[in-house]
Parts: sequence; C-alpha cells; structure tokens
Amino acid sequence: MKRPAVVLVALAIGAFCAGQFALADEEAVPYPENFRAWSHVKSGVIGPQHANFSSMGGIHHVYANPRAMDGYRTRQFPEGSVIVFEWLEWAEKNGSIEEGPRRQVDVMVKDSQRYASTGGWGFQRFVKDSKTELAASPTPQQCFACHDKLKVDGLVLSKYRE
Ligand code: HEC
Repeated sequence: MKRPAVVLVALAIGAFCAGQFALADEEAVPYPENFRAWSHVKSGVIGPQHANFSSMGGIHHVYANPRAMDGYRTRQFPEGSVIVFEWLEWAEKNGSIEEGPRRQVDVMVKDSQRYASTGGWGFQRFVKDSKTELAASPTPQQCFACHDKLKVDGLVLSKYRE
C-alpha cells in the first residue's frame, strides 16, 4: 500500500477506535525483553560538569542482540538488529559510585520497510522501568534527526571495541 493510503486507513481505524491513532500502534517498537542478557557494547558516564546533568547525568550502557553484534563488527546492520541504550541515575556514597534508578530505555530496531520514514530504524524511548509507557519527547522523528545529523557510517553512532 502506498503511504497516503496507509494513512487514510489508519485515520479511519483511528476514528473508529474513538481517539486511538492506529498508525502509532502499527509502527510501535516492541519493548526489548531480556536485553540485559544480550552483548554489552559499551558504557559511559555523564558527570556533574555536564550541562544537562540533572536530566541525563549518571551511567549508561549499550546492549546489542546477536544480529546487531554482527552489525557492530561489520558496520552493516542486518534486518532484525536491536540496540538498547539504557540510562541509569547514579548513586554516590563516600566516593563510591553505583548504578541508581533507571531513567529510560532507548531502543533502535532495524526494519527497513516498517521504519522507512526514519532511515530504516525504529526509535522508541520507554520511561523508567515501564515496558509500555512511552516518552512523549523526543519523538521517533526527533531521535532520528539527531542520529542522522551525527552519523558517520550509518545511524548507529556508538562503536564496539573487541
Ligand atoms: C541530541 C542527539 C540525540 C538524540 C535526540 C537521540 N540520540 Fe540516541 N544517541 C546519540 C549519541 C551521540 C549516541 C552514541 C552514544 C555513545 O557512543 O555512547 C546515541 C546512541 C543511541 C543508541 C545506541 C546505538 C547507537 O546509535 O550508538 C540508541 C539505541 C539510541 N541512541 C536511541 C535513541 C532513541 C530511541 C532516541 C529518541 C528517544 C535517541 N536515541 C535520541 C544521540 C542522540
């Protein structure tokens, strides 16, 4: 189906379902169940000197499913690649820093057809520990815009170190 047709059908279903916008569901990125058992790609820390420490500060980890690991090694990410960027607050006690509560789980899923409008990757942010609550902002388009602006060899910005 061509895109305008998809939108029209989605609008019709949306009106039928009294307020639910069906297209959003259709393109939804699924929660990455069990991602903490995947490969660990890298970690980083955003410290108190950072301008956005209050909203971003803490520890973050990147995880990749097996297909995405192939992508990290070849820089050609196959369909079905899933990458998770997990953001945690930090908890400091007597100079010792540990993982604090989870801020959010950012997910990228490679599906060139489904997410053609955002460079072949689906983007989604899940709030705190919720598997269903999605962040209102940034929107997937805003996620894509930043990754697209910063890209070097594709929309995946981080690198894997053997
Ligand atoms: C302001 C720019 C910016 C925005 C907006 C942004 N990202 Fe990123 N994102 C980055 C950068 C830079 C990295 C690489 C971090 C690193 O190397 O540790 C990254 C890394 C990631 C990764 C790990 C894979 C990769 O590309 O390295 C995922 C997954 C991710 N972002 C998802 C999202 C999602 C989902 C959103 C929207 C909710 C989003 N990002 C919004 C800049 C951005």
